[in-house]
Parts: sequence; C-alpha cells; structure tokens
Amino acid sequence: MKNFKHDIMLSCSLKYHGEKKCICRATQIGADRLHGTAESARVRGENSMKKEFSHVPETIDEKELYGFSWMEHVTAIPSPLLVVTSYKENGKTNATMQSWSTFANDNGFYCIFGSVYKGGHMYASIKQRGCLVINFPSADIYAKCLKTIENNGYENDEIEMSGLTAERASLVDAPRIAECFLSLECEYVWEKEIVPESGSVVMCVKVVNVCMEEDRFNAEKKGRYGESGYLYNIHSPRNPETGKTEKTYIGILQKYKAEEEL
Ligand SMILES: Cc1cc2nc3c(=O)[nH]c(=O)nc-3n(C[C@H](O)[C@H](O)[C@H](O)COP(=O)(O)O)c2cc1C
Repeated sequence: MKNFKHDIMLSCSLKYHGEKKCICRATQIGADRLHGTAESARVRGENSMKKEFSHVPETIDEKELYGFSWMEHVTAIPSPLLVVTSYKENGKTNATMQSWSTFANDNGFYCIFGSVYKGGHMYASIKQRGCLVINFPSADIYAKCLKTIENNGYENDEIEMSGLTAERASLVDAPRIAECFLSLECEYVWEKEIVPESGSVVMCVKVVNVCMEEDRFNAEKKGRYGESGYLYNIHSPRNPETGKTEKTYIGILQKYKAEEEL
C-alpha cells in the first residue's frame, strides 16, 4: 500500500491541527540540557545522546501529515493491527482496519480503540447493534484486509468482496473473518472524545468470547508470534533532524528472551 493512501484514508477521521504550527527549532539544547543528555548516554553506557523535541521540527511540514501529530512519526510507536467487523444497518458485512488500540484488564478484558471516526460505518453499526468482532490477521491475508477499504460502500458485503469469508459470531450479532487466527467477540461499553468537538472517539469494548485457532494457543505448533503471528502498524517513522521519512511498515513480533533472562 502506498503510504499516502494510508494517510488519506485516515485523514477523514482525524482532525487537522495545522493552525498549531509554530516556527520553533526541533531542539534548542542549552548547556545544562546538553550536559544532561550526554550524562544520560554515559549512564546507559552508549555513545548516542538523547535529544528533546517539544515543538514541530523545521524538517516537518504538518500540512503533509493528514491530521496526525508530528510526534506520531517521530516516535513511530507500533500498535497492533486489527480488523473490526460488524453488520451495517442493512445487514451487509462491514470491515474496518484499526490500529492505535490497546487492551486492558479490569474485572474483565477490554479493548480501548484510540480513535474511531464518528462518520464511518464501524461507529454507526456498533452504536446501532452494540457489538462487534475484533479480528487479528496474519501477514498472508493482510492485502485482502486492506481491500476492505476500497470496498467500503454501504451496499457492499465488505468481507466477501475483499476475498475473505464471513462467519457468524457465536455470542454477538456481528460477523467474524474466518481466515483470521484470532477473533474477539465484543460488546460496546463507552466512548469519549479526547478533545471536545473531535470527529473521533476513544471507544471501550468488552470481550465476551475468544475464538482462536488451536495451533495458535499451542506454542509448540504455530503460536501467536513471529512471521505468521500478530501484526503491528509501524507508521512512517521520521528522522526529526533530517526529515528523512520511511514507508509505513507492517511489523511482526518475535519472542526475545524470558523475563528472568534479562
Ligand atoms: C493500518 C490502518 C489502520 C487504521 N486505523 C484506523 C483507526 O485506528 N481509526 C480509524 O478511524 N480509521 C483507521 N483506519 C482507516 C479506516 O480503516 C478506513 O477509513 C475505513 O475505510 C473505514 O471503514 P468504515 O467506514 O467501514 O468504518 C486505518 C486504516 C489502516 C490502513
């Protein structure tokens, strides 16, 4: 997928804060601060100094970021790649690529979506039916999942049109994607805007059923990590000093060492 396409698709859901642009240097490190960062490199036993960025770097034009903060690209923190499925009001299947999400435990297991566009089908169908499925694709079907964006018409059965198979969820009124190795059936709990008047919401949903391929929960077989496991969105990392921009990458996660070995 072309990077710009990804951003344009997302631009509809995220407000552009271009007016916030200030002409500030990326880093203006005073003598004390410089000493501090060099000191921290020494403490870490490394040669690479820490640098600080609190204003948009001169190398970045915020107008080109389609509503994302420059910090998104300077940090490029990976987040899990999900496909949220639901039934639209007309009964057709809906599929929405989602990232910027996390999971939380509090008397149950919850997903917190960081940014759900209020004008999209996902938001409308979850509000209407109160439920959804979170599907985890592996790399071999990622391209098909991405096609759901091209097939995003209200009259479309988006899962089938994208070459994937829809199956009814067991406990909620939503479809699952059969090819995904893990599907979480969920119920809507609450939503909140990060800032007033935002076009998107943070949404919390509760997982009520876990459907997983047995080869995945068996670590001696496929397991959940590595090349056929969970995918991560690595959103176009940037070098704030040179402005050098990388493509958006799809990441995988390898087990490194057991906790106690580090
Ligand atoms: C990798 C990736 C991650 C995305 N993450 C989000 C997201 O977190 N929130 C969002 O509103 N849109 C996100 N999008 C964009 C939506 O998937 C896209 O706008 C989609 O067409 C909306 O579908 P819907 O109208 O059926 O909800 C993402 C797109 C991609 C490719």
